[in-house]
Amino acid sequence: MNSEDHKNGKRTFVIYCEQCHGMGGRGGAGPNLTDEFTLHGEELEDIIRTITNGVPAMQMPTWGQILATDRIKKVGKYVLNLKGTRPTGKLPEANRAEILRGTSPFR
Ligand code: HEC
Repeated sequence: MNSEDHKNGKRTFVIYCEQCHGMGGRGGAGPNLTDEFTLHGEELEDIIRTITNGVPAMQMPTWGQILATDRIKKVGKYVLNLKGTRPTGKLPEANRAEILRGTSPFR
């Protein structure tokens, strides 16, 4: 991915995604996007599909109704590249289990 696309993807992430997925994708109300766990698949196409369709039952918005396809592709690639990164303040995995157990205000 060229750096212009990366910047665009990051900008979209900061504006629309960080509030739930945390700074650098470290997790919050939405799952951590940097670790090896995925709920909906780890391939780029899985990520793009999940972003596009959302998971309405779990408060993940249906971004296909909100963002242009091109923007979703770029933010999807950005998310793919978050895997394996270690953002400062990343939640320990134990906290992620808490989130999945439904202690989040979004559940
Ligand atoms: C209002 C909160 C919220 C916002 C905003 C949000 N998400 Fe999510 N997202 C979630 C939740 C909750 C889940 C977990 C869904 C589930 O449990 O099935 C999720 C799941 C995901 C997944 C699947 C993760 C996996 O483990 O398979 C991806 C990828 C994702 N979100 C990307 C994004 C992107 C990109 C944006 C911004 C365009 C975004 N999300 C904005 C709440 C949010």
